[in-house]
Amino acid sequence: MGHHTFDIDQAENLEDEGRYRYLSAEEFRSLVRPADGETLADLGSGTGFYTDLIAPDIERLYAVDVQAEMHEYYREKGLPESVETVTADVADLPVADDELDGAFSTMTYHEFVGDDALAELARVIRPGGRLVVVDWSARGDGESGPPVEEREDLSAAAGALADAGFRVTRGEERNETFLVAAIRS
Ligand SMILES: C[S@@+](CC[C@H](N)C(=O)[O-])C[C@H]1O[C@@H](n2cnc3c(N)ncnc32)[C@H](O)[C@@H]1O
Repeated sequence: MGHHTFDIDQAENLEDEGRYRYLSAEEFRSLVRPADGETLADLGSGTGFYTDLIAPDIERLYAVDVQAEMHEYYREKGLPESVETVTADVADLPVADDELDGAFSTMTYHEFVGDDALAELARVIRPGGRLVVVDWSARGDGESGPPVEEREDLSAAAGALADAGFRVTRGEERNETFLVAAIRS
């Protein structure tokens, strides 16, 4: 199990476009590579800030968040047609085996990481399906984001994903953040 959950009273901050300095809209789209007809999931979708970038290009996008209040915020902002909100813990998803063509998660991995959550991702993402994780890195200096001691780094995340049944295809430590892309074996 990861660390504490993002404070709903701070939800407005998730809509700040200054966040693109850590992960731009263009880079994010190119990492997720949404394709027509796919079913994807956003793990810890919050207000839908990054979800909205993917939603127009796919058939179905599960916005998964453990806090119903985040989904309320997203609904008030306006849910894209392809987005279905799912109030659930990543460790216990109401999704069938191999149902997902892929999943992604932005700035949330440290909140859900644990054996149960990673086993659940291996269950719901089909073989050959993809997973993209961008999160605050323990190698960062804490200028933004959660306390450094609550974070993972690339090496820990890549190792945990490999142990859970994913083949890591790309990994980077960057400014305050890390990026891992993987394929379900
Ligand atoms: C830091 S916010 C990031 C939201 C969004 N990914 C973004 O980048 O704008 C983390 C979100 O993950 C959700 N969350 C935390 N732990 C979770 C878990 N175990 N399962 C599902 N959602 C979780 C929180 O409620 C919160 O909305």
